[in-house]
Amino acid sequence: MERPPLYPLFLDLASKDVLVVGGGRVGLRKSRELLACGARVRVISPTFDPGFDDLSVTRIPRAWRPGDEGRARLVVAATDDPAVNRAVYANCSQQRILCNVVDVPTLCDFHAAAVAREGSVQIAIGTAGAAPSLASWARRRMQEWLSDGVAGLVDLFERLRGETRTTMEPGERESFWKSLDPDHLLEVFRSRGADACETEIRSLLSGRNETATPPGRVILVGAGPGHPDLITRMGLRALGRATALVHDRLVSKELLQSVPTSCEIHPVGKTGFGKSHRQEDINALLVELARKGHTVVRLKGGDSFVYGRGGEEIEACREAGVDVEVVPGLSSSLTVPAYAGIPITHRGLSRSFAVVSGFHADGTVARIPDAETVVIMMPLHSMKGVRNRFMEAGWKGSTPCAAIHSGTNPDQKVVFSTLDGIDTDLERSRMASPLIVVVGEVAGWAQAHPELAARLHTAPRGGLAG
Ligand SMILES: C[S@@+](CC[C@H](N)C(=O)[O-])C[C@H]1O[C@@H](n2cnc3c(N)ncnc32)[C@H](O)[C@@H]1O
Repeated sequence: MERPPLYPLFLDLASKDVLVVGGGRVGLRKSRELLACGARVRVISPTFDPGFDDLSVTRIPRAWRPGDEGRARLVVAATDDPAVNRAVYANCSQQRILCNVVDVPTLCDFHAAAVAREGSVQIAIGTAGAAPSLASWARRRMQEWLSDGVAGLVDLFERLRGETRTTMEPGERESFWKSLDPDHLLEVFRSRGADACETEIRSLLSGRNETATPPGRVILVGAGPGHPDLITRMGLRALGRATALVHDRLVSKELLQSVPTSCEIHPVGKTGFGKSHRQEDINALLVELARKGHTVVRLKGGDSFVYGRGGEEIEACREAGVDVEVVPGLSSSLTVPAYAGIPITHRGLSRSFAVVSGFHADGTVARIPDAETVVIMMPLHSMKGVRNRFMEAGWKGSTPCAAIHSGTNPDQKVVFSTLDGIDTDLERSRMASPLIVVVGEVAGWAQAHPELAARLHTAPRGGLAG
């Protein structure tokens, strides 16, 4: 016969007695969960995991005995002795105390749910013990959803509902709150923030809808070095809210697919050499789209402020009175060497690093900073001049170098060399842009540890963004 479903409830355990039998890792985890809900926790066990040292539970250092449940509302049995667990359960059943024997569904009056929690909202997920790992997978999904505006919207409703208690009759109040469209308000909350959402609800409350053309804004998002999962969660969320996307050449196609299908897409790729969009035109486009009311995501490779001209775009928007937000990105200057297995600092080899550009719009050659590792961005047509600068600064020709093309992408290529040979090795390897050169002993260290880079390459593409 099919079992009836469990009755879901949220239990108030604040200052209530709870007993945990078993002081191992499972007992520790259960004690933590119960403490987090304000319970007074006693733990009975002959031995205790060292993790209990930091917990404010009452420890009873001996084996369990019938009657130990005392005034407990709940008992959790988590010993590694099935006979003890069964005895605890039988004893509790006699006393009508709810008991859970961890991982034994037949000896459970209640199941602990996987809980997504944010602010005052909790979503509890259970599979009646059938597939706890899937419950925690679902919990992670729900946690992302809650954190993405839902909990904030609940807080806003709570605050404004409090105000309407004094200004509206109960029936009128209930029908007003039911008449609101949560999907639309969540969209407003996500794309324009809590204040805009509050304004919209207030205007509905006062019978005036003043939200005809919402003001647009620009969000500068760093896309990371190329691998679509090397964007931040904040950046990915911004993409999900974009109504217009203005993106660079070095942005992965998987990320471009993360915007809503209705989003306008404007590619504005720039290269140091060859055909480029002028910066002034890009600035003007951002302002124009924002003025039309768009949530414009300006997506740039790496981080917007590392040779990314993000500052100029902010200035242009501010001058035009357009709001700008910045979502930092993982700059290729740090992540491309790391992904290729090159530690840009390493005990005994390098305690400092610097990032320089090989390409200078005015034709000058980079100055070599006083650092033990130097990362050269855009070195493609300037490596010979830059190498000479290293020599003038007193670096040895035998200093190890690594050139990395298209780091973190499937076509990543790494060539190891030395300062003496780097320009000819670059020519011979026909490496193209995007390219980074790392100069310093750490490049030699990476050459001696190829297994590191190989391990990193097993990270699959597109887990988050795909
Ligand atoms: C205009 S800069 C922009 C840098 C970007 N804002 C950042 O923080 O990574 C472009 C240069 O970054 C470097 N670059 C960016 N992505 C790269 C990648 N995946 N592999 C190697 N170099 C990369 C190259 O030197 C490229 O020419």
